[in-house]
This record gives sequence, structure tokens and C-alpha cells, in this order.
Amino acid sequence: MADLFETIISLSKRRGFIFQSSEIYGGLAAAYDYGPLGVELKRKVSDRWWKAMVYGHDNIEGVDASIFMHPMVWKASGHVDAFNDPMIDDRVSKKRYRADQLIEGHIARLEKKGEDDAAARVHAALVEALNADEAPKALYDLIVAEEIRSPDSGAFDWTEVRQFNLMFETQIGALADGENTIYLRPETAQGIFVNFHNVRETGRLQVPFGIAQIGKAFRNEIVARQFIFRMREFEQMEMQYFVKPGEQMEAYEAWSQKRLDWHVANGIRPSKLRWHQHEKLAHYADAAQDIQFEFPFGWNEIEGIHSRTDFDLSAHQEYAGKKMEYFDPQTQERYIPYVVETSAGLDRTILMLLCHAYREEEVGGDKRTVLKFNPELAPYTVAIFPLVKKEGMPEKAHAIEADLRGQFNVYYDEKGAVGRRYRRQDEIGTPFCITVDGQTMEDDTVTIRDRDTMAQDRIPAENIQHYIADRIEQWTPEA
Ligand code: GLY
Repeated sequence: MADLFETIISLSKRRGFIFQSSEIYGGLAAAYDYGPLGVELKRKVSDRWWKAMVYGHDNIEGVDASIFMHPMVWKASGHVDAFNDPMIDDRVSKKRYRADQLIEGHIARLEKKGEDDAAARVHAALVEALNADEAPKALYDLIVAEEIRSPDSGAFDWTEVRQFNLMFETQIGALADGENTIYLRPETAQGIFVNFHNVRETGRLQVPFGIAQIGKAFRNEIVARQFIFRMREFEQMEMQYFVKPGEQMEAYEAWSQKRLDWHVANGIRPSKLRWHQHEKLAHYADAAQDIQFEFPFGWNEIEGIHSRTDFDLSAHQEYAGKKMEYFDPQTQERYIPYVVETSAGLDRTILMLLCHAYREEEVGGDKRTVLKFNPELAPYTVAIFPLVKKEGMPEKAHAIEADLRGQFNVYYDEKGAVGRRYRRQDEIGTPFCITVDGQTMEDDTVTIRDRDTMAQDRIPAENIQHYIADRIEQWTPEA
């Protein structure tokens, strides 16, 4: 399926969804820019998340915290000491790999060969190694014991496994010494924790309540790959839900279900989604699972649900010397709340939507490429075409376009045969195409074509807005 993924990457570039960063300089690895269609899709997805989380719950409020934070935040959060990836180098090719991913690749190959017992045995050994006190050594020993070879050179000449911290550092102000070291945030969550009291007090919130945030985060991934799947700069949609200690598992289960439902409501087929339990819990978690999507390059995480206990608030209480307790007015109890986090990758969600929407279909002997997005998320909702560039049709089409612009993102196109114009819109996922033709000039009706069925209805021009709004409302994801 690698070809399918290449095709999707090439469509993304050709049609203006996603470009390589700094392309005129030869590009920067693993950094990408969203083009005109990509930014529309991204804004629609993040708006939909915001509406579901913040508008959809009377006990969830939003914040937009600064990317730079006091360096002690990252000491308290554990990221300075524990936010590491175990890396190993192939001495022949000089390429660096994540040790756990090399082993996962080996397990996947065993499964493919039908050697399920061996795969299960290595999987159990991987979990044990990841959780060992001397995890780097345990991972190295497993790679050697399994004789795992380098994927690029085929060599079996590995360095030892070393831990690399994933945070980007820079200096703030004029002096380049340790005192001024500052980090690009590796997760948006800490901007929520440090604002726990600010939001709680100003929002007059009582536990349980949540704080939501959408924003950029940065990780110095040694192996960034798979297009926008693993970038060093990426966007998160995170919500921290504060609960009474002891009530975290109930919240964890409830949020897990709600977040899965959100992806399904976006149009993702349930059969393309699955749960994946973490092999090794992050330093802050007592339970964690991921929602994975079946990408053309395999099952991979798009969102994590983490039960973070009182790890973060307790740590900030200790490091900042400020009380992070909550006083429950009903029970008169004082406690540090526990936290359940939902952490979705916005860029990964976009990549999932592109991969999921992509279809190639046979139509009357021709191939058509179509992106079957949920109409609410499609970059353009409607395209409008005059059948021919004369007889007053362009003027009429422009008048309809002007009417629709207040409500929808509209694309006007008068170039080429109308069939070609439909195909261009199919390829970018525009759900509705309106054509102004000879009959429009007589009775003020237009045709409106459905992207998925290609069926056309003829409707009065004055009904277009209602028609589209109804169709979007009635849209249901494919079973
Ligand atoms: N905040 C959790 C994460 O970034 O994965």
C-alpha cells in the first residue's frame, strides 16, 4: 500500500493541501506547510473539536497558553529527566533508529510470516525491556538476541542503546548560559496545569471540570517520518479533565468512548479504528490507551487518552511552592484533583482524513479520484459553474456565488468542459457542484450535483442555501 500513500502525498501537494517546508531551498526534512486547501481542512477540524469539547460541555473552558514557559515547568513535569527515546545506531549506514520501533518491526514481520507464538514472545520481552530499570541495555540485549538487522543496510553492527531527550532547547535573552535555557513546549498540557487555578476561579468551575487547548508543540524526533504523521513541530488538541481522586477510571472510560465517537462522527469507519494499550506508561500515567487508525503504512496512533493521576498538579505544588488543591464546597474536602487527558494530534487527524477519504472509482470507463470527506470538513463546500461562458450565465453564477459566500467557502470555475470541472472538485472533496445552464436563465433553477453519488437535482436557485444546509445536516458516515 506504499504506492497509495505516495499517491495521497502527491495529490496533497498538487492540489494545495500540504507543501514541503522551505521547498525553494530544497526543503526541510519532516517540516510541512499547509496550503490553501489544507489550512481550510485543518481549521474546520480544529473548530469541530473546539465545538465538541468547549461548546459541548458546560464544565469545559478553553485556554491559549504561551509556547515558552518557565523552565522549571519542565523540571516539575518530568520532561527534563524522563522525556527520552531509546536510540540505536547502525555503524555501517550511520543511520539512527528507535530501538523499540526496530523490535516492533521485527514483531510485525514475524506476524506476517504466521509465526504468532514467536511474535507474542518477543512482544512480551519488549514490554518487559521497556519497563526495565536499565531499559536501554534490556532493549539492546533483545535486539541482539533476536538478531535484528538494520532495515537500511541489512547489517548487524549496532551501537549500544542511548536515551535522547526530545525537547528543543534555546536561550532566552542575550546570555547563552544555562540560566537562560528555555524549551519549546513538548506538550500543550502543561499550559493547562499551570493555569489550573486561574481558569477554575475565573470560570467559577467545580470539579469535575475540563480545560481545553489547541496549539503547537515541538519534539526533536530523531526519526521523523511518514509525511505529516511524525513532525518535529506539530499541533495538539488537548483537554485535561480534573476529577476527584478515585473517580479517574470512570472518567477515563467515558472520555475514551467519547473521543472514539468523535472520530466516527467525523466520518471515519469504525473498522479503521482500534484501541491500543500502551506498552510502557509515560512517566505521568497510571493508565493509557491510544486510538489508532489504519493508515496505508499500518496502524498508528492519532489520539491518546491518559489517566495522569495527580502527578502534574502535585509536582507543580512542590516545585512552585503554590497550593494546587481544590476545596470541594459540597463535601468540605480538600484534595489535589486527578486528571484524565485526551490528547489528539491535529496533523495526524488531517492525515487520517485524507487517507480515509481517498478513493479511485471507475465511472463510465474513466477513472475518477474523489475525496469523500464529511461535507462539514471539506475545504470547499460548494463549487459553482456557468455551463458556458456566455448568454449571461457567468453573471448569474457570480450572483449566486456572492449570495453563498456569507455562509460557505465557495469555488467559482468557468474553465473547460463541465465534466472536467466536476472531476477537479471531486479530487479536492467538494461535496456540491452547482451548474447554471440555459434553463436557469429561463426559470431560475440550477442543477446541484452530489460528489458521492454524482446524482443531480434541479432546484430553484433561491433554495440552494437550505438545500445544502439540509444535506450537510442529514449526512451520515458510510457504514
Ligand atoms: N500531553 C500528552 C502528550 O503530549 O502526548
